[in-house]
Amino acid sequence: MTIFKKEKLHIETWGCQMNVADSEQAASLLSDKYELCEEASEADLIILNTCHIREKAYHKVTSRLGVLANFKKKNPDLVIAVAGCSAQAEGKKLLKNKNVDLLVGPGRIKEISTLVEAAKGSNKKISALGFPKQELTEEENELDKISYPTLSEERNEISRFVTIQQGCDNYCTFCIVPFTRGREISMSPLAVYNQAKAFVEAGAKEITLLGQNVNSYGLDLVKADKLKASKEGPFADLLRLVASLPGLKSLRFTTSNPHDFTKPIADLFQEHPLLGKYLHLPVQSGSNQVLELMKRKVTREEFLERVTWLKEACPEITLSTDLIVGFPGETEENFEETLSLVAQVRFAFAYAFKYSPRTHTPAARYKTQVPEEVKTDRLRRLNELLDQITLEENEKELGKTRKVLFLYKSKKDGGVYCGRSEQFKLVKVPAGRDLTGEQLEVKITKATKTALEGILV
Ligand code: 5AD
Ligand code: SF4
Repeated sequence: MTIFKKEKLHIETWGCQMNVADSEQAASLLSDKYELCEEASEADLIILNTCHIREKAYHKVTSRLGVLANFKKKNPDLVIAVAGCSAQAEGKKLLKNKNVDLLVGPGRIKEISTLVEAAKGSNKKISALGFPKQELTEEENELDKISYPTLSEERNEISRFVTIQQGCDNYCTFCIVPFTRGREISMSPLAVYNQAKAFVEAGAKEITLLGQNVNSYGLDLVKADKLKASKEGPFADLLRLVASLPGLKSLRFTTSNPHDFTKPIADLFQEHPLLGKYLHLPVQSGSNQVLELMKRKVTREEFLERVTWLKEACPEITLSTDLIVGFPGETEENFEETLSLVAQVRFAFAYAFKYSPRTHTPAARYKTQVPEEVKTDRLRRLNELLDQITLEENEKELGKTRKVLFLYKSKKDGGVYCGRSEQFKLVKVPAGRDLTGEQLEVKITKATKTALEGILV
């Protein structure tokens, strides 16, 4: 009898949660022949799942490829694949890099097994870029229901991602995503439900629905006469459907574009305890002039209206956001409007970025680029304000009792379990037994900028 020995796969993932979900899917699709390994030096196949959202993200890929070249000297059969948004956007350049054997765009990740086999059996480089057809067949729409491996400490079988939509149709003027991930395509509600159900049956307690623009989920299916939606819209219908899964304790979704965020979705936070008390709602800027240049289609006032809907539906809701500083044409006054919006909304936390010009995008061609040192200074001022608010908001949690879903045991502090409160705050609790997967009441006893600590009630 010959014992079949699996080869070793090492995956590195940068960027957004869509990429994390894609990496999990790739690992799953390859799991017949490959087992995961932590060290790149031991791998037979390395996948770099890349991000292209800012220039820095792309530079990371090229410098990492330089390091991996050393492993090829030791193991000439090593296959190096570059997947994700940089593969799609910089295909030609990356193919010239002698260490790259395989390129896979985000739209082609489902073909990873076949592509790896082709790359192994060939001296030529393999490239699979581009997007799936506009309409998926029944079969393609069927997500595979295998239990995906997970790839980091916080990502495990308790908390799972389900991709509900590919691509984005919004074309914000700064953003490369519509070029790297293509047009919006929604998975069918049944496919999403079945995938979520399979995860819950395998032990998941939390599902996060993923898309670049989840609030417009299903509008393409309705338009093509493939789906009938209630008057609340297909995304609200999908949330109700997935929330009905027995055993599910938490249902989150990201990313929401305020443009498509409707009152019925906000109202679901009142009706459905599973949705928790947290939402990520990227605003990008507090200035109407800049929002217009970004083609965000939502004004500062309309954004604040959505915040009001959410607070009315769920007074304890916390919000996070994304912000860009130094967008072309942003004046000091415009930037101060961002500061004032942050002070007004008091986001629990935010991801703040310096504007980074991306090839193909309209904003990269604007003549009014802001000098680097001005961007750096604005980012510093914005982060100071954000940090101060995050700490103050966390300190307000002291003494409160919060429902926490425990997700993993801390690797650093023995006997400490980590979870997320309904408000999405990281909570650490010491315990003498395994708490993972349980949702328990915790009294908050300590607050720092990054986490809360507490004791079981
Ligand atoms: N420059 C800086 N930040 C960007 N983002 C997207 N494109 C750019 C860019 N060109 C940010 C936005 C978005 C987040 C995922 O990344 O804030 O919401
Ligand atoms: Fe990019 Fe705008 Fe689409 Fe978000 S909504 S992915 S920022 S184009």
